[in-house]
Amino acid sequence: MNRYLQSIEAPAAIEIADRIRKKEADGELIFKVQTGEPCFNTPDYISNALFEAINNNKTNYSYSQGLPELRKAISFHLKQAYSANIDPTNVFITNGGVHAIHCAIQSLIEPGEEVMIFDPSWPQYANITKLYGGIPIKVSTRETSFVPTIKSISDNITSKTRMVIFNSPNNPTGKIIPSKMLQEILHFLADLDVYILFDEVYDFIVYEEFQSILSNPAFEELKNRIIYINSFSKTFCMTGWRLGYAIVPPELSASYLKLLQNSVTHVNTFVQLAGVVALRDMEIHKELFKSMMEVYNFRRNELIEVLTNRSFEFVYPEGSFYFFIRIPNMEPNFVSQLLSNHKIASVPGEAYGKDFSDYFRISYAVDKTSYDGFLNWLSNG
Ligand SMILES: Cc1ncc(COP(=O)(O)O)c(C=O)c1O
Repeated sequence: MNRYLQSIEAPAAIEIADRIRKKEADGELIFKVQTGEPCFNTPDYISNALFEAINNNKTNYSYSQGLPELRKAISFHLKQAYSANIDPTNVFITNGGVHAIHCAIQSLIEPGEEVMIFDPSWPQYANITKLYGGIPIKVSTRETSFVPTIKSISDNITSKTRMVIFNSPNNPTGKIIPSKMLQEILHFLADLDVYILFDEVYDFIVYEEFQSILSNPAFEELKNRIIYINSFSKTFCMTGWRLGYAIVPPELSASYLKLLQNSVTHVNTFVQLAGVVALRDMEIHKELFKSMMEVYNFRRNELIEVLTNRSFEFVYPEGSFYFFIRIPNMEPNFVSQLLSNHKIASVPGEAYGKDFSDYFRISYAVDKTSYDGFLNWLSNG
């Protein structure tokens, strides 16, 4: 077997979710707060666009970079949302955000090169890096209020550093990197020979002030070295559709395209057409989105209150839909005990970095039964 593949494990949240599906199929009731996906159905106007595309036989091969109309719609969307000037020729349509990240790392990283990742981090960044022979350099943000700093970057950067990955709003903490701080960090990185991967898949799920990297003044300065990742999964409740995109600097475009051509060929034609409608008719989505955010925010506030009353430590979530909760002196098998004793499925903090074995992550974008089950344990357990 490929030695790089042997060096990685399944991401904990996905592995646990697969295990839970089996338990549920056997009739067990599990309170599922482990997976990060919206608890709402894909809006009808998007699903209907897919049915229409299939009925109109939009089922053939298409452009490997992605449909021009979808790339144009994304460019327009980012202009509306962030006043960003993104040329559709720099947009690449991918099989979810994860595939966009794969292509970015695969197209840039040579074996032995380093990728800087700030922990706690979404585990796939390190796994994908290792898959291509790269070396993840994990920089803990535990002592820096869960955000990267210029000092932590400069202390860990080496001549082998090829890429630095940022994720804001963050999974698993919900932390947003303040825009001024980000500007200073990017300014510092401008002098170094590194690429920057910026993952904003939670950009619309925010409760506090958020500025996209695309509207940060430093973006213009560095745009030839920034790969921007986003996805339809979270904003449009389309996790199972597998639709995402990357904005790629021109010098990387040819390699990125070759990867698409030699892997998935392109994302399903009718899924892309539904994506065009998702963005084009975003006005329709606004109402539903508002009600989604009301549910998330209500639960976020409720959990903040209960966690605070019960003296739990947690990272104050400013975006996304997670809580990263600390239990001092946490038993190594806390998460499995929570599952076997209380039927609550969560993710151990260690999955997001070795510095976080006293934390666990829960998502509150879950079905009501699961949310209530978790809240009940938290309030009384
Ligand atoms: C930080 C982060 N990036 C990227 C993704 C990938 O999302 P998708 O592949 O569904 O677009 C996720 C999914 O949970 C995530 O949490």
